[in-house]
Amino acid sequence: MTSFTDDQKVYTTPRGTQLHGDSLRLLQGLDDESVDLIVTSPPFALQRKKAYGNEDQEAYVDWLAQFGEAAKRVLKSTGSLVVDIGNAYRKGSPTRSLYPYRVLLKFVDELEYHLAEEFFWYNPAKLPSPLEWVNKRRIRVKDAVNTVWWFSKTEWPQADVNQVLLPYSKNMERLLKDPERYYKATLRPSEHSISRHFGNDNGGSIPPNLLQVSNTESNSNYLRLCRALDIKSHPARFPSELPRFFIEFLTKPGDVVVDIFSGSNTTGMVAEQLGRKWYSFELSRDYAALSIMRFLPGMNPQDAEVLYEKARAGTVSLPEDGQPLVTTAAQSAVAEASLSVESAEAALGAAEAEVLRAGENLAEAKFAAEWNPDATLDANAERAVTAAVERAKAWADDAAAARRDAKRRLNYARKLADQAHAALREFEVFYKTKFTAEDATAE
Ligand SMILES: C[S@@+](CC[C@H](N)C(=O)[O-])C[C@H]1O[C@@H](n2cnc3c(N)ncnc32)[C@H](O)[C@@H]1O
Repeated sequence: MTSFTDDQKVYTTPRGTQLHGDSLRLLQGLDDESVDLIVTSPPFALQRKKAYGNEDQEAYVDWLAQFGEAAKRVLKSTGSLVVDIGNAYRKGSPTRSLYPYRVLLKFVDELEYHLAEEFFWYNPAKLPSPLEWVNKRRIRVKDAVNTVWWFSKTEWPQADVNQVLLPYSKNMERLLKDPERYYKATLRPSEHSISRHFGNDNGGSIPPNLLQVSNTESNSNYLRLCRALDIKSHPARFPSELPRFFIEFLTKPGDVVVDIFSGSNTTGMVAEQLGRKWYSFELSRDYAALSIMRFLPGMNPQDAEVLYEKARAGTVSLPEDGQPLVTTAAQSAVAEASLSVESAEAALGAAEAEVLRAGENLAEAKFAAEWNPDATLDANAERAVTAAVERAKAWADDAAAARRDAKRRLNYARKLADQAHAALREFEVFYKTKFTAEDATAE
């Protein structure tokens, strides 16, 4: 059971709810011990104030600890809190701030979380910064790693590495195919013996705690619609692979996942796809409303804008509020396309008849020119026959061009109709998951 007011709800989906407001307040709407995983990326204590707001570095740790405390109440005893924290330099100095580590110590020493494991998110696409130390003076290297603290409420959080196995390397695949050929009973320099178990196929290799994910999202519905509507997207999104890893690793289908600093709601989107229930909290109503774009697959920008505006003022229910819009858009696109198909087909028929007539005419004109029965035909008459042949040829060329054009229009109209169908299917396939047996049993 949850207790949120309608005013706090921005949109709901079959599995989740996006809420707006201060997370400290919103967390009160969740029952004790009801959440399996909180995965989040708080506003970082960078020196420069960003568009999404930052607390002073000094006060940051205490500020974040309040959320840690409130989060602890709602976590199940098997629950986890995963916090992605960017690193920073101290103001005006080429030395590092210790705040990610202060957060770690505060959460473990004072809030009594356990550090289940520390992760590092390596983003190879990160740009070199800060400018002064890295680019100008060249006395520091590129900072491309975020610390990601995996805290647990007890020493035994729910976790299953089998859900996040990586594909085997080529060498390992060769070994698995033919263990006898590759296996040699040797001792490694560390004096570990490589046993025959090493050749067992466990479905993939165990991932390290260094997660390599480029933060480059270019083809999501969120960006597609933000771009089309010329709305500024959230400036500090994390890549969906990050919450995906922890949701798959630390929860099961039907479990409850929460993001208390949800921004563009990357977490909610991934949780929805993976069949987990989710709640996302975001202070800014605009960011919270804009994140609805993630849940509008196949929708055209004009319709998406209608829902975005509705989410800024009230609550949108998905898929109910979206379905009529995508259905109408698809129906009118299909109707328009079939009109175009009809007119292109008529034009094609006319062009083909024209091609036939022009061909006959040309054949007649040629016949007349070749079989001139009157050898005494004067030059004028001869020119007239040649001109008739030329005219017939031009007619035939025009008719062929008209046919090509009609075919092109026909193909284009058919393509538009297919696209309209595909958009509708995309929306329906995304939301059909609501009705799967797995969801019914998870309730
Ligand atoms: C780093 S961003 C999170 C981005 C998110 N992970 C994504 O992928 O889009 C942090 C967010 O926390 C929000 N925020 C800051 N203080 C908050 C508070 N007290 N309660 C809820 N959200 C807050 C900010 O508005 C900002 O959007």
